[in-house]
Amino acid sequence: MASNDPLLQPYKLKHLTLKNRIMTTSHEPAYPEDGMPKERYRAYHEERARAGIAMTMTAGSAAVSRDSPPVFNNILAYKDEVVPHMKRVVDACHEHGCAVMIQLTHLGRRTGWNKGDWLPAVSPSHHREASHRAFPKKMEDWDIERIVSDYADAAERMQAAGLDGIELEAYGHLMDQFWSPRTNTLEGAYGGDLENRMRFSMDVLGAIRERVGQEFIVGIRYTADEVVGDGISAEEGIEISKRLKNSGLVDFLNVIRGRIDTDPGLTDVIPVQGMRSAPHLDFAGQVRAATGMPTFHAARIPDVATARHAVSAGLIDMVGMTRAHMADPHIVQKIMEGREHDIRPCVGATYCLDRIYQGGDALCIHNAATGRELTMPHVIPRARELKKVVVVGAGAAGLEAARVAAERGHAVTVFEAASQPGGQIRLTAQTPRRSEMISIIDWRMAQCAARDVEFRFNSWAETGDIIAENPDVVIIATGGLPHTEVLEQGNDLVVSSWDILSGDVKPGQNVLVYDDAGDHAGLQAAEKILESGAKLEIMTPDRSFAPDVMAMNLVPYMRAMQDKDVIFTVTYRLLAVSRKGNELLAVVGSDYSDLRKERSFDQIVVNHGTIPLDDLYFDLKSGSANLGAVDQAALIAGKPQGLQNNPAGTYQLFRIGDAVSARNTHAAIYDALRLVKDI
Ligand SMILES: Cc1cc2nc3c(=O)[nH]c(=O)nc-3n(C[C@H](O)[C@H](O)[C@H](O)COP(=O)(O)O)c2cc1C
Ligand code: SF4
Repeated sequence: MASNDPLLQPYKLKHLTLKNRIMTTSHEPAYPEDGMPKERYRAYHEERARAGIAMTMTAGSAAVSRDSPPVFNNILAYKDEVVPHMKRVVDACHEHGCAVMIQLTHLGRRTGWNKGDWLPAVSPSHHREASHRAFPKKMEDWDIERIVSDYADAAERMQAAGLDGIELEAYGHLMDQFWSPRTNTLEGAYGGDLENRMRFSMDVLGAIRERVGQEFIVGIRYTADEVVGDGISAEEGIEISKRLKNSGLVDFLNVIRGRIDTDPGLTDVIPVQGMRSAPHLDFAGQVRAATGMPTFHAARIPDVATARHAVSAGLIDMVGMTRAHMADPHIVQKIMEGREHDIRPCVGATYCLDRIYQGGDALCIHNAATGRELTMPHVIPRARELKKVVVVGAGAAGLEAARVAAERGHAVTVFEAASQPGGQIRLTAQTPRRSEMISIIDWRMAQCAARDVEFRFNSWAETGDIIAENPDVVIIATGGLPHTEVLEQGNDLVVSSWDILSGDVKPGQNVLVYDDAGDHAGLQAAEKILESGAKLEIMTPDRSFAPDVMAMNLVPYMRAMQDKDVIFTVTYRLLAVSRKGNELLAVVGSDYSDLRKERSFDQIVVNHGTIPLDDLYFDLKSGSANLGAVDQAALIAGKPQGLQNNPAGTYQLFRIGDAVSARNTHAAIYDALRLVKDI
């Protein structure tokens, strides 16, 4: 029976029928190898295609020219060799009725000169972009000519590869560097009034049309409002939209609102957790209403209800659920099967996007199979031999282990010392802005409940309790405890970031947060301390503070803290603490010199990660068949663990997550999935 769900209705875009209204917008996950989309790339997109998505916009900023070197391992669309690679991606997705397009761009100033072929970055002005830092060459006529023809060449390659269409990325890239009065100081035909500022894009579109014909689908993704005084206003954005339509060269509009030349700007365009859902949806609706053009849009539409509203209210034609599909590539299938409750929620952590700059590739904070489709399953296969699995600890690692083991069909019991599941994530979620993190736990609890996993809360498991279960496999996921023993003297005088976050310790008046872990816990504690009205110094021995928080995730912290009484101090190391009257005397040094100076505070908070809570693991080790050892070669190769180091052992014993060493949520979940999928 045909569904009447607005999201599942087909959409006709020119000659192309898209089978429903859900797409992933262009998002380069930085998976290309040598600039080419190879097997990992194909598998990533095919997973979504197989699960029913109507269209995948591949790449993200695929480079049309050599002087647009990738900033996060983008596809090199200026090379002819891209054609067969793209064709394999396209063919695989077409097998499942999923349309495939690609986003092409010239980054203009939004790149570096010290990459690729070491050519100068180019732009219609010398203005530097804060995020990527290149001082661009101001473009000449011959730059314009060659880049226009580079676009046409790249479009032709994509047509040859069998793609259903292309999208030109304008916002923040070369095209809107021409459009925006902020970044175009050219005189003559390409600078000045709007017609001149749009001339470059029109030249590109014209050249592409000449090459690929009228039938091939060509769209554009652009900001229709830079939300800044001297930039493209909403009014001008609507005018740009109309001109694009009237050119007759463009088949769809993919609307963005905002600008991306700084980290905060980018974060308003692509909101992270704690920020409003769908903040630009109504604006995209205004562009659609003003132009009558097929309109696509994505910006934090993480849930099916909002997506459904976007389409049913006629605001947009195709709804982008991009990060949502990184968290769960099977959204469409689950909607079709009436299993919306099973969708693994995107919690807006934006670990995925931050990682393309800092970590090398996009990974989802709580779906370790995303981007690892060649080795990790999104759907866990049932085990041939069913076992009794005992998990100790119901934090991220333990719950993922329990979920995966239960999906394998094993009988699973989870011991947890606390009264509730969640471990460190429950602490993280105490910050209202980060409360969505608890869905990482809630989703797993619901999945476990549906598979009859037995939970024993308030149970501090000892060896006897575990043995009494007669387990085949024991997985220790007991996490860690805050590690504050970093000082030459005075460790007993400091408190941990966890003490502040949990509320066990109230913030002082004049506080030092000494953060040499550089993760979220330090900044979350800092935010809470500042909210209490205290004076705060955040000190780190590193060159920059909170390096593991990364770019977009830093934005909400800065917004919450910068208007308060706070000082950020880098390159200083806290050496010792002593008491002097009511004050704490901090001895501060530096890795760069022998300097030692004294400072006074009334509270010192140390954030230095966790130390494993591993007593139970060591107690159980001698009774295990593998003596706790992991066959790492088998683990990496995706084979079962078979080490037999102790013939008398009665169970296999493993340790995962922070119970091994302090890492992060993704690492904990990957530890669990990678191990348990083969148990
Ligand atoms: C890893 C990653 C890379 C991205 N790269 C691009 C890109 O190259 N070009 C682009 O237009 N948008 C890019 N985006 C933005 C997405 O297309 C989308 O606009 C954004 O994620 C907001 O939609 P969502 O809330 O559904 O995720 C990227 C997003 C992610 C997560
Ligand atoms: S890392 Fe966070 S924002 Fe990115 S897909 Fe996963 S849950 Fe969503």
